[in-house]
Amino acid sequence: MCKVAVVRQVLAIRGERDAREKNLKIKMDRFQSYRLSVAPMMDWTDRHCRVFHRLMTRETLLYSEMVPAGAIVHGDRERFLAFDASEHPVALQVGGSDPADLETCARAALDYGYDEINLNVGCPSDRVQRGRFGACLMAEPDLVARCVEAMRRVQIEVTVKTRIGIDDQDSYEALQSFVGKLAAVGTTTVIIHARKAWLSGLSPKQNREIPPLRYDLVYQLKQDYPQLNIVLNGGVPDLDAAAKHLDLVDGVMIGRAAYHDPYILAEADQRIFGDPLPVLTREEVVAALMPYAEKLASEGVAIKHLTRHILGLFNGERGARIWRRYLSENAHLPGAGPEVISAALERVRAAQAGLAAA
Ligand SMILES: Cc1cc2nc3c(=O)[nH]c(=O)nc-3n(C[C@H](O)[C@H](O)[C@H](O)COP(=O)(O)O)c2cc1C
Repeated sequence: MCKVAVVRQVLAIRGERDAREKNLKIKMDRFQSYRLSVAPMMDWTDRHCRVFHRLMTRETLLYSEMVPAGAIVHGDRERFLAFDASEHPVALQVGGSDPADLETCARAALDYGYDEINLNVGCPSDRVQRGRFGACLMAEPDLVARCVEAMRRVQIEVTVKTRIGIDDQDSYEALQSFVGKLAAVGTTTVIIHARKAWLSGLSPKQNREIPPLRYDLVYQLKQDYPQLNIVLNGGVPDLDAAAKHLDLVDGVMIGRAAYHDPYILAEADQRIFGDPLPVLTREEVVAALMPYAEKLASEGVAIKHLTRHILGLFNGERGARIWRRYLSENAHLPGAGPEVISAALERVRAAQAGLAAA
């Protein structure tokens, strides 16, 4: 081969390699935020809660509460979809089973600037079943696939959150086939609550506690679908546990532990995402929250809508009870504003100074 041809070949190989590395990097960046997420939780992960969580972690992906597709298609979109710019990366979770409606939801999510739209195939409540969405859709994999296909017509990341099974449909083969159908229509990320759901006889709360956790099935899915971004959810209490799961799956979603003990999120950027920025102290988190509290007050939003989400901030610390009690007893009083938060913090400081002096 002449010299010019050899040089050309080397450059071509290098170019290909660079492109491959770039693609890989884009892919890694794209899935990077899935390494840790806070679960969608009705009545809990509203926009105020998400702003609070975001102050502790820049990287963790945050999910909205589930919004029924009908509310987006026919209802007051601003009420259901508006969010604060600081919340990114943020995903909208929807519940529905009508492909056309879900496509409309995906378009609305894109218009509002969400980073992702997620389809709920995990909620077992009676109300949700009556609407033919949530966990009962595990019995209709083809319909779920059509829903995903419709949503994927919109230029937004589409993901599915599901269980490992429902009722007697609880074999690994059934789960594998369900996920296979999602993969076949181009789903790249599947979040799996590692418990099955009983569609009758258990309340949603019991369905989060009674069926046993089967992490092994989620790990197996990752083995069988290495190309999929598999996110494990259910019963993960802290970042230590999350880090262990991350050896076997791509991401971990934490629900109740993040809500009840939110300060676990403060170390997430360093420990899970390798971000070198210093971890904020709890006091710094409160200080960072104050401008948002002031903003809410200036908009006439009662401060209790924010303080209900921050009650667990000092969990495990001296002053935790005082903080919780002061906020609970004072934030709902008429005229209460951001000063309730500062006053609660003063009391925590006094309790901690008492300990230091003792
Ligand atoms: C109060 C509450 C509300 C929830 N609402 C939703 C919801 O809207 N959508 C959803 O997919 N899961 C919902 N879940 C389930 C969680 O997303 C998560 O799958 C479940 O709590 C298991 O994770 P955990 O053990 O880390 O809490 C809810 C859970 C709780 C505690």
